[in-house]
Amino acid sequence: MADRWQQLVQSLEQALSQASGHPQQIEQLRQEYLGKKGRLRQLFQSQLKAAADKKQVGQKFNQTKQQLQQLIPQHLVPASQTGSWYDITLPGQMPELGHRHPITWATDQIVHIFQQLGFSRARYPEVDWDYYVFEALNMPAHHPARDEWETFFVDQPPDAKLGQMVLTTHTSNAQVREMLRVKQPPIRMLNIGRCYRRQQDLTHTQMFHQFEGLVIDQHISIAHLKGTLDYFARKFYGPEAKSRLRPYMFRFTEPSFEVDFSCVHCKGQGCRFCKSGWHEVGGAGMVHPNVLKAGGIDPDKYSGFAFGWGIERVISLIPGMKINDIRLFYQNDFDLLSQF
Ligand code: FA5
Repeated sequence: MADRWQQLVQSLEQALSQASGHPQQIEQLRQEYLGKKGRLRQLFQSQLKAAADKKQVGQKFNQTKQQLQQLIPQHLVPASQTGSWYDITLPGQMPELGHRHPITWATDQIVHIFQQLGFSRARYPEVDWDYYVFEALNMPAHHPARDEWETFFVDQPPDAKLGQMVLTTHTSNAQVREMLRVKQPPIRMLNIGRCYRRQQDLTHTQMFHQFEGLVIDQHISIAHLKGTLDYFARKFYGPEAKSRLRPYMFRFTEPSFEVDFSCVHCKGQGCRFCKSGWHEVGGAGMVHPNVLKAGGIDPDKYSGFAFGWGIERVISLIPGMKINDIRLFYQNDFDLLSQF
């Protein structure tokens, strides 16, 4: 008796002989047998589950696929018209339409939301001097706080004033650079860029994206920070989303916070996805006086807030998104990418 692979070939052969000369029916059969969720793929999956030798199932799948594909052209024209089998009325094969990568899509959304609050996008180096990444941010050489950033160093002689070159561990290197560029507040900057850290697990990649906001003016308070975070949460996740600040410690902000957004699934009640009702997205705080001084700004006259969040993290919280491993963003996984 023929095995199930052979039975599938025979069954298509039979169906094709009845549809012979009818291109539309043949196209339907092609999809039924060879389509993404077609009979061949279903058979493959069921055989794979039961098989001890998975390699053999793979080989059978490929052989059968070839056989099925070869059957089709012979039936595209009726036997009476043999001699020219090319049917110009056949529907063409539409190529799959591509689209922007989710990180690019989210970056555009984020820029759009912050532009409405008067932020301008800035671009600063992704390979930068130690001075801007650490020292000017109140983390002098050998300070233990630097260990957290798990830095990649560039192997070249250090600059006498600016120190070693590093791959930026966060977009906060833009803070002092922007102050020195603008010289005179007000500042409302949004810096989006790639960051690098020696980290790799379900929620961390060695290269990832952050967006950094910096606002400096007279009389800027935590209330402005909170209002900005809530505005972003509502615009990005929907009208019911909220933000929450938890006390934390960063050397470049005082006070410092970790920022959470309410879970979009349970609206902050607590569910299987979030456990507590909240998800952490990044850090924020009021710019430290030493950082203002490093940027040439008088801390007695001006104050400001800053925040920095991971774009991959912000995307994975969108309702319906099935991302349990952020490394997938960079593996060109078609199932993941086609969710967008
Ligand atoms: C910072 O990077 C601070 N610069 C944020 C900040 C800016 C605080 C301005 C105060 C003022 P943190 O190390 O917590 O903080 O990183 C912020 C977010 O970046 C994280 O919550 C996470 O969403 C994302 N992130 C950090 N490391 C990785 C990584 N290896 N892979 C993916 N995302 C990451």
